[in-house]
Amino acid sequence: MNKKSLYIRTFGCQMNVRDSEFVMALMMEEGFTQASSIEDADVILFNSCSIRKHAEDRLISNIADLKPLKKKRPGVVIGLMGCTAQSYKDEILKKIPILDFSCGPGNESDIPGIVKDILENRCPVIAIDKVNEKRPELFPEYREGRSKAFISIGQGCDNYCSYCIVPYVRGHEKSRDARDILKEAEALARRGFKEITLLGQNVNSYKSADNKNGFVGLLESLNAIKGIERIRFMTSHPKDASTELFKAMTRLEKVCEHLHLPLQSGSDKILKMMNRRYTRKKYLKLVEDYRSIVPGGSITTDVIVGFPSETDKDFKDTFRLMNEVRFDSAFTFKYSPRPPAKSSQLKDNVPSEVKDARLKALMDIQCESSLMRNEELIGNAVAVLADCRNEKHPSTLTGRTKTNKTVVFEGNDKLIGTIVDVKIESVKPHTLIGRIC
Ligand code: SAH
Ligand code: SF4
Ligand code: F3S
Repeated sequence: MNKKSLYIRTFGCQMNVRDSEFVMALMMEEGFTQASSIEDADVILFNSCSIRKHAEDRLISNIADLKPLKKKRPGVVIGLMGCTAQSYKDEILKKIPILDFSCGPGNESDIPGIVKDILENRCPVIAIDKVNEKRPELFPEYREGRSKAFISIGQGCDNYCSYCIVPYVRGHEKSRDARDILKEAEALARRGFKEITLLGQNVNSYKSADNKNGFVGLLESLNAIKGIERIRFMTSHPKDASTELFKAMTRLEKVCEHLHLPLQSGSDKILKMMNRRYTRKKYLKLVEDYRSIVPGGSITTDVIVGFPSETDKDFKDTFRLMNEVRFDSAFTFKYSPRPPAKSSQLKDNVPSEVKDARLKALMDIQCESSLMRNEELIGNAVAVLADCRNEKHPSTLTGRTKTNKTVVFEGNDKLIGTIVDVKIESVKPHTLIGRIC
């Protein structure tokens, strides 16, 4: 029998990117191959995100678009994994009837067995019962890249920000044992990977019995692994970020000087309603501490506009804060009610056009700030890990600085996966352009 092929389409955050890679790896160990397109695949998997309604609607319509394909090839298996699977539970089969199975984030290691079962018995499967369990430790080999890799250091979240669906679909916070994380990082180093990014909804609250010194202790152990040259992490919650972490970022030479510190709002009233557990003043103090302890470090953020009852004054507080901090970059979102998250019980009372105008104002000021921050680098030499050829300008490569900025420069394929020094000659808001020095 020919080998069956699998295609995974991924929506959502880096956690989902890593989960898709993990499931692909498990399936390859069961003899599946990677399909080059959805049309060619025997098994199609959608890894889903429910963070905003718009993201979810897009996913559902993308799956529904496969109706003609399923009609033409009824043998094709179509599955859903990730956060939307957990959110809709059994209801998902009514919403998207062409699905053969739906599997929550806690059950992803079961996917090879589920697919095998469906190929033999053709009976729909819903697997969502393990959302609060620690995942089994498996180390399948396949990775998408050759120099950079994601490592999940935990699952779930206990913070219950009032707008956020993640705690409901990813379950309680569960940290992996440090020895498993180190084992994974060491294996990657042996295979030539140079950069690892540690993933967690709130990395600063990482704790495990076999690692007394929390997240900083974990960074220390990883920093000692030979072959790993760069360590990144995300996301840091401001309520748990500390000067101890910032000092570690300076002391540990492999830890990259980039902090993603989601602000969400600059208004104390809104921060309280969001259950973020810090104030505008505390956030500004963190930024000040970070900048004085980690010179040249970059700082990026997430902001939501139009949270219920956000007034012009509340918004101005956010705008003023962004104007004061001048982030290196920011993701800005329009508030979207996500039941069962708490704030979905409040009236979504900021009119859509007001949300649009506030979003535009933030995007404009961010564009200005990003350009300003990048201009500070003109004339400097920066170390860049070359990633890949730049599709838009094939004579050039793209790579990232330790501060996570994208750099474009002339170079040959041999440089991919190596760290080179590039002198910055000009900049745009989202890219630095330079020459190898
Ligand atoms: N754990 C991370 C990431 C959470 S999701 C953190 O705490 O930062 C990524 C971003 O999506 C959040 O930071 C937030 O800005 C945004 N987001 C989450 N829920 C949202 C909602 N209901 N409406 C709009 N944006 C939302
Ligand atoms: Fe959501 Fe808040 Fe947890 Fe981030 S920290 S995943 S925003 S509940
Ligand atoms: Fe990530 Fe979306 Fe789930 S942001 S954790 S994939 S809801």
